[in-house]
Amino acid sequence: MKPSYKILITSLLVVFTMLFSGFGKYNSVYSPSKRKSGMIKQKVDSLLALMTLDEKIGQMTQVDILALKDPNDIAKYSIGSVLCGGNSEIADESAKGWADYYDMLQSYALKSRLRIPIIYGVDAVHGHNNVKGAVIFPHNIGMGCTRNTGLVKEEGRITAEEIAGTGMNWDFAPCVAVARDIRWGRTYESYGETPGLVSGMGAAFIEGLQGNELNSEASILACAKHFVGDGGTTNGKDQGNTECDEATLRKIHLPGYVAAIKAGARTIMVSYSSWNGVKMHGNKYLLTDVLKDELGFSGFLVSDWAAIDQLGGNYETDIEKSINAGLDMIMIPNGPGQNNNYIQFINDLKELVKEGGVAESRIDDAVRRILTVKMEMNVFEHPFTDRKYTSQVGSKEHREAARECVRQSLVLLKNEDKTLPLSKDIKTLAVIGEKADDLGSQCGGWTISWQGQTGDITPGGTTILQGIKQAVSASTKIIFSKDGSGVDNADAAVVVVGEKPYAEMMGDRDNLALSEEDNALVEKIKGKGIPVVVILISGRPMIINKALKNSNAFVAAWLPGTEGEGVADVLFGDYKPAGKLSHSWPRDMKQVPINYGDKNYDPLFPYGYGLTY
Ligand code: GLC
Repeated sequence: MKPSYKILITSLLVVFTMLFSGFGKYNSVYSPSKRKSGMIKQKVDSLLALMTLDEKIGQMTQVDILALKDPNDIAKYSIGSVLCGGNSEIADESAKGWADYYDMLQSYALKSRLRIPIIYGVDAVHGHNNVKGAVIFPHNIGMGCTRNTGLVKEEGRITAEEIAGTGMNWDFAPCVAVARDIRWGRTYESYGETPGLVSGMGAAFIEGLQGNELNSEASILACAKHFVGDGGTTNGKDQGNTECDEATLRKIHLPGYVAAIKAGARTIMVSYSSWNGVKMHGNKYLLTDVLKDELGFSGFLVSDWAAIDQLGGNYETDIEKSINAGLDMIMIPNGPGQNNNYIQFINDLKELVKEGGVAESRIDDAVRRILTVKMEMNVFEHPFTDRKYTSQVGSKEHREAARECVRQSLVLLKNEDKTLPLSKDIKTLAVIGEKADDLGSQCGGWTISWQGQTGDITPGGTTILQGIKQAVSASTKIIFSKDGSGVDNADAAVVVVGEKPYAEMMGDRDNLALSEEDNALVEKIKGKGIPVVVILISGRPMIINKALKNSNAFVAAWLPGTEGEGVADVLFGDYKPAGKLSHSWPRDMKQVPINYGDKNYDPLFPYGYGLTY
């Protein structure tokens, strides 16, 4: 039968189905009334039968918003997904601004021939961190120290509500990396150094983010990342090479994905890194034989940002290798006029199918996976922002929950002569160090911008200094000094030191010693002969021996996010410190990497360490 007759007959069938199954609210091609997988399978198969090769490949294409010069391309190419990368910003970054922007893009998708809606991905890795005014939670390294999966699940639920309020419906989280070398710039994105901790926390986040059903209100599609072994590279080099036997890879780095799949994750992002010299984005054994076949993962695999470009060939061979390895959707940050752009991707993949380099059955498998997840999400019936959540972004209730996360993430490493808790009636308290009053520093990377930055970067939060000021009594005098000057009359001092914001490879460090300036600042205050409480703001353990010796009390605060009040809650004893280290703390760089279970394990502070009052 001529293909045109085939399309005509199937189209008539579809019209017949629509008339009798009732139109979805938005007149979408499909509006599955029931969530039964059998029902969805049937709808996916009949939709797939209608699609041209171009439309199928379009669904496998994810485009960054900055690459999308003309939103008409979404309909023209039947683009499956868009994302906003860490630095992809729009004019109005308020919740409403993002919601309007999402709805605009979706309206173009629904102009495509088959009106297949897009799904919109974002890195909301510690709250909805691209959005001004959103609540920023402690980064995962701190959440791991809470050992509280209920709290992580609540973080997931709140993050989902704030994402839903901006229309977006896919979160590139949780990162279930098991960070084994703290020189890695992404250590703070991991819940910790053991597969057990990472699995429990990752699963809890997914349950909170997706809710009971992917099609429930404010349910956001999760994405476990980065598959597999991203936290195990030699020397902690970002996007480096994880050199280990298969048994070790399965023991340390795979459990997070087994737990994520069990918790209902329907997308997984592939890692830039390599395993024993083979790039993950070209590793058919791990992506297809292990993840899809052995572990039965029936969702879809998305590439990392332009990651297939690293496969070493020309763009067409990169595409051929990654798609045949098992990638289902490719994240493309380049647009017309740039190399390796999304139009080139579509044309090259179409060519590969025609030449037989990629079988059409592989294309159909990828598109079936993508459409199945889209139908499970109910995005066909509810493609636009549910505006009742938009006003929830940055709400007091959400901030209170994040403040509780801050309290439980703090790890008390030293408390000589019960220096802590401080009295709220202390006469004069010095608060020292620029990081004591810097929201950007306490949020770290992946906040408003990809690398994060110091300063007052987003409204609605409280710095550590502001939290201290709100906690003490009216009679207390607070002296804030960035360099420790003018504090001679203080009765005690809180000194905040640590790292500036960074993300990914920009945070790779061979030397994790606290800076000489920070050590000198603590020493200077120690010289005043008053109790010194040091608070470390960092994305990982650091070499702190000098500052530790010169302190009376020492708190690892990690990257607590916008709710700095949570730090004061513990400093003044409203809440006891509860955090337990999610990483072993090295004595010096010679010990790095050092992990729980190592032979001759002799860290400064062991995994699981944490004092309380
Ligand atoms: C980044 C990260 C990944 C993120 C993606 C999209 O390079 O590796 O974690 O989800 O690009 O921003």
